[in-house]
Amino acid sequence: MKTPTPIAEITGTGRFLPDNIVTNDDLAEKLDTSDEWIHSRTGISERRIAPDGMFTAHLGAEAAKAAMTEAGVEPGEVDILIVSTATPDRWLPSTACDIQAVLGCKNAVAFDLMAACTGHIYALSMAEGYIAAGRAEVALVVAAEKMSAIVDWSDRTTAVLFGDGGGAAVLRPCNGSGRGILSSHLQSDGNLADLLYRPGGGAIDPVSQSVLDEGRHLMRMHGREIFKNAVRSMAEACDIAMNKAGLTANDIDLLVPHQANIRIIEATAKYAGIPMDKVFVNVEKYGNMSSATVPVAFDEAREQGRVVPGSNVLTVAFGAGLTWGAMALRM
Ligand code: COA
Repeated sequence: MKTPTPIAEITGTGRFLPDNIVTNDDLAEKLDTSDEWIHSRTGISERRIAPDGMFTAHLGAEAAKAAMTEAGVEPGEVDILIVSTATPDRWLPSTACDIQAVLGCKNAVAFDLMAACTGHIYALSMAEGYIAAGRAEVALVVAAEKMSAIVDWSDRTTAVLFGDGGGAAVLRPCNGSGRGILSSHLQSDGNLADLLYRPGGGAIDPVSQSVLDEGRHLMRMHGREIFKNAVRSMAEACDIAMNKAGLTANDIDLLVPHQANIRIIEATAKYAGIPMDKVFVNVEKYGNMSSATVPVAFDEAREQGRVVPGSNVLTVAFGAGLTWGAMALRM
């Protein structure tokens, strides 16, 4: 397939991580676990945990400021602000509206998008569509997650996996530059919703004393099933996105995958035919920050010079829903 002409390009990226580092040994003081178990099964050594008083909107707004600075965009120029989050600060209004107020993006339409760990790729694709329709010149796409607020800290099977952080990107029409989003493939399967979910606290099972006593407002996961589905879905999404972009695995300069588990990353890269020296990995430092992992990794990869003008980058993610997706970009 011929490489399509991109419509929208990323002109700035940013990230924000709380300073507070929690190591595997720190967790082993409170849970029946060990650094050896966590590191060998997941590749995670430490994660950032937001302190009390630092919320999802803060993580997102700080990442957004960095992306806007690089893109040279003033708050009033943003036409659309999409925030992907699985950890909104409040059920009403959206975290996007809170971030809009912090940033002063008074001319933007602002809303949250919920696609769990795949959220940033979904949001970039939605923003691209808005730009393609001629409805926006500047799109701000933010991923912000305070996973520590929904983790069951007494459950060693989930508590050791997650961390907090925010990432962001500014998207603009590319006006013939040839750089930008080449393709994307998004998919979901609601039949598998109960593999990773929060049973209570929503409209089905509103907050009550029993919800709180039994921890039904916290995240639950079937790890093994998630693992199998993640590898299969991400490998397939990579193939489809590369095919739509007219690229083969050999053309990819860097794969920026969702950072949930090093074993999932390695298996996905293997199936996609991309060697590990062309795969960006930072899961050891941050754990799984849900939708924030891809933009944080993307921003770090750019900072480290692993993404340069002309690079072909493939991003891929997987998460609750189930949702999954991949996007090919030329930078
Ligand atoms: N520390 C020590 N032991 C632990 C542990 C921990 N943190 N968590 C689980 N165990 C134990 C289990 O209780 C089990 O013990 P048992 O054999 O006595 O019953 C044993 O380790 C093996 O558990 P299992 O769940 O089979 O391990 P696993 O090899 O499948 O690894 C995950 C568990 C969670 C690391 C792995 O399934 C995984 O990464 N899944 C995907 C999760 C994910 O990425 N979710 C987000 C998607 S966006």
